[in-house]
Amino acid sequence: MYQLCPSILSADFNRLGDQIKILENEGIEWLHIDVMDGDFVPSISFGMPVIKSIRKESKMFFDVHLMVSAPERYIQDFVDCGADSITVHAEACEDLERTIEQIRDAGVQAGVSIKPATPVNDISHLLRDVDTVLVMTVQPGFGGQKYIDDCTEKISELRELIEEEGLDVNIQVDGGINDETLETVIKAGANLLVAGSCVFNGDLKGSVRRIKKKIEDISKTIE
Ligand code: DX5
Ligand code: ZN
Repeated sequence: MYQLCPSILSADFNRLGDQIKILENEGIEWLHIDVMDGDFVPSISFGMPVIKSIRKESKMFFDVHLMVSAPERYIQDFVDCGADSITVHAEACEDLERTIEQIRDAGVQAGVSIKPATPVNDISHLLRDVDTVLVMTVQPGFGGQKYIDDCTEKISELRELIEEEGLDVNIQVDGGINDETLETVIKAGANLLVAGSCVFNGDLKGSVRRIKKKIEDISKTIE
């Protein structure tokens, strides 16, 4: 299952509700929600009140990416405000296994993310316990950065491990995904494609249609 997961970090927050409606009308199912705390990453984005307020208007799957230190403090809060999936960073958790368990116990999907310098090996023991592995393809913290080529190998390595073990785990990529890099990441094995600036910069509806079509075309060439 391939999904374009638009990241609202690049949305126009003055028009957030309208832009989410446009995504929903264009058949987008996954909404990527980047939460940043100014500690795990340099920047600060938004938190629970924003999620709670967009939850009232949207039926999309809320994919919450926590770029937050010690995220175990907030799992229940994010579930309460409407997350359907919570992804935490391997580098941010004191006890990663326990945090994943906490997410599952809270009744939502669990994801684990690794920064570009973190090897797949650090999380490979968790593949049976998560729904999604998020491979960061830029340094987390800001939209609009350039895709880091070295990350492609990590996507392939992960896809191989998942196939070998016969598991059903999503590989999500996040950072610098656009018309040029889509093919590389899909061919390496990614199926959940986060995109911020290339969706929201310019004509939103047109970009969603173009990128969705591109994903569909590339995915047809696989298998
Ligand atoms: C980066 C965030 C991304 C970001 C992607 O730390 O996790 O989700 O919004 O933005 P683009 O697609 O512009 O690289
Ligand atoms: Zn993200």
